[in-house]
Amino acid sequence: MRRDQVGFLGRMIDAHGDIVAIRVLGIKMIMLNHPDYFERVLVRNHENYDKSTFLFRAVEPILRGGLIGNVGGEPWRRQRRIMQPSFHRPKVAGFAENMTDETARMLRRWDRQYGPDDVVNVSTELGQLAMRIVFRSLFGAEVGARGDAIEQMFLEANQIVGAFFRFPFPPLSWPTRPHRRLNEIIRTMDGFVSDVIRSRIDSDEDHLDLLTALMNAVDEETGTGMTPLQLHREVLNIIIGGYETTSNSVAWLIHLIGQHPDVQARLHAEVDEVLGGRVPAFDDVPRLVYTRMIVDETLRLYTPAWQTMRRAIEEDEMGGYRIPAGSDVYLNMFTLHRHPEYWPDPHVFDPERFTPEQVDARPRHAYIPFASGPRNCIGKHFALTELTLILAMVAQAYRVEIPEERRYVEIEPLITMHPKGGIHARMARR
Ligand code: HEM
Repeated sequence: MRRDQVGFLGRMIDAHGDIVAIRVLGIKMIMLNHPDYFERVLVRNHENYDKSTFLFRAVEPILRGGLIGNVGGEPWRRQRRIMQPSFHRPKVAGFAENMTDETARMLRRWDRQYGPDDVVNVSTELGQLAMRIVFRSLFGAEVGARGDAIEQMFLEANQIVGAFFRFPFPPLSWPTRPHRRLNEIIRTMDGFVSDVIRSRIDSDEDHLDLLTALMNAVDEETGTGMTPLQLHREVLNIIIGGYETTSNSVAWLIHLIGQHPDVQARLHAEVDEVLGGRVPAFDDVPRLVYTRMIVDETLRLYTPAWQTMRRAIEEDEMGGYRIPAGSDVYLNMFTLHRHPEYWPDPHVFDPERFTPEQVDARPRHAYIPFASGPRNCIGKHFALTELTLILAMVAQAYRVEIPEERRYVEIEPLITMHPKGGIHARMARR
């Protein structure tokens, strides 16, 4: 498990089927791998499942009661009610310009910085881009040098927490050297977010960003908003939820189109036809049909938020098995998205799986990169818009070529599904 977590879990399923009880370090977990079971936990019987599990307790020092780790029940419902309108379609439309502006800026720099023979560290570049986009959407302002430092810290924190999940001992509260470093990172991020919120409270200017929307948001049922402390936590949760996931997805996107010249050629044809050389806008997103199919297939193969957990509050039943009250239920989207019953040749990249006909022919819960039900990803539309726009703009300008020695990339299952060693590519100007 420690050496090869994903392989281990896959072998358990192969040996025992789509519902398996495993014990890791004394903690018993029930692992599910069937669309119906996922639907049961996340949708049909979602009231019976909360996030009071060791996974979320372990990351409590980082998420601290923000939306992602919130245990559930009324405190979560209230937060979600307050925040949901800030992520509705018209709001995301407003953020699309941040996405295209920042991508255009990155591509202009690539033109100056890289020649056709240079191998670009795509992961680093796109990590910066994703960070700029989430920061600019939240705070309006440019990220600047402090943002770069925060990004580095994020990567470091991800390594520390990822290693912890492969072997969750000693607890994060024990002052080992990595855990002390993690605390230091958290304090720095807290300082950064507090500074921004404080200066916003003191400012008389009108801002059109997510932070302002969240500061002014009120719960329609009670008429009250968030306290500054809750706002602080939610801002951090949005950065955590919105950065790593998208940055890894775009890196995998570039890798996969570079590995599949036929797919890349079709992508080029679509962006040329739909956009005719201009910068895409939010309204173009639904017309970039094939681009979106590539995004969907990438989120299937390398689903960034690849695992989660729930606790069964009362006893439940699934597939003829009893789920005792208090059980930890482990949901692994990585194995679900490669379930051979729903995905022929599951490890093969094939965007055709996402034609409307093929989508209709599958159970809806065979594919849930953003989870499902009331606790699905609040940033889903934000993320899909961002991924589609970035991919379209990169494809407008460049042909991706993966050097021979960079073709094989191992997965590194941290908190998100990382490409081990990063994605590297040559970007040939079209
Ligand atoms: C490709 C990109 C993304 C993927 C694959 C993704 C995936 C997910 C998943 C699977 C969950 C549910 C987690 C669970 O049940 O344990 C989730 C929740 C969440 N995500 Fe995302 N996410 C992405 C991007 C974003 C973005 C861009 C934001 C914010 C701007 C964001 C903010 C959140 C928040 C706040 C939650 C908690 C929602 C709740 O519990 O009510 N995510 N995400």
